[in-house]
Amino acid sequence: MKSEFEAAVAAARAAGERLREKFGRPEEVLTKGSAIDLVTEMDRASEQLLVEQLGEAFPGYGFLTEESEAIPGRGESRWIIDPIDGTTNYVHGFPYFSISIALERAGEVVLGVVYNPIYDELFSAEKGQGARLNGKPIYVSKRTELAQSLVISGFPYDVWTTEKDNLREWSYFLKRVNNVRCNGSAALDLCSIASGRADGYWERGNKVWDVAAGSLIVREAGGQATDYQGNDDFIYSQQVAAANPQLHAQLLAGLRETGAAR
Ligand code: IPD
Ligand code: CA
Ligand code: CA
Repeated sequence: MKSEFEAAVAAARAAGERLREKFGRPEEVLTKGSAIDLVTEMDRASEQLLVEQLGEAFPGYGFLTEESEAIPGRGESRWIIDPIDGTTNYVHGFPYFSISIALERAGEVVLGVVYNPIYDELFSAEKGQGARLNGKPIYVSKRTELAQSLVISGFPYDVWTTEKDNLREWSYFLKRVNNVRCNGSAALDLCSIASGRADGYWERGNKVWDVAAGSLIVREAGGQATDYQGNDDFIYSQQVAAANPQLHAQLLAGLRETGAAR
């Protein structure tokens, strides 16, 4: 019998193989919620495959997934899944999207897998056992100066209409860091922090399936992931700030200064 970790990795890889088939050319592109929030038949196909495969391996575990109603489990364990994190990129053929799988047990994330099927990069962590990229240990960066840091952010799907459009925060950091990136997959953005490719990440409006796996991977890589106030228990808060410990404090201070951390 496969372990939970092996099952999550196998499911992510199987979904990735399926998603590669129609990368950049899904047949059905619809909007949901807002005019820029896309969903395709491949989001649903990936989700179905993941739920079937993990449900078969671990009957009784619940599911919280982006594209369907939650499925209650019989115990304390549930999978939190984003079948395509970065649907906009997937639709356009921009090679930065992922499958994100977290296992939550008694309210705590104990396992996370984030897979970019185009780069064949699989980020993973189990609680207390470190973080890995394709099986090799990864660590957050050691950069401590904001001015030398590469930071990442993203914009919420209600950006056309909301006042909380992240533009104030964006211009604040743009003038204080080495540069800012907007890549389009929150799960992979967190893994970029975990692997030291970027130094800091903030975003609001993310759902739990965007951040559940990636935030465990950041922590297991030696980083911090919290809401804008610094709370560790944050994955349902729709705010995320992640960085190595030294920069994290500076990121939060900046968010406070912009007024975003209220
Ligand atoms: C989105 C991506 C994006 C972030 C959005 C998410 P989706 O996920 O993670 O980077 O800015 O907030 O909703 O819709 O492609 O699964
Ligand atoms: Ca997502
Ligand atoms: Ca998604």
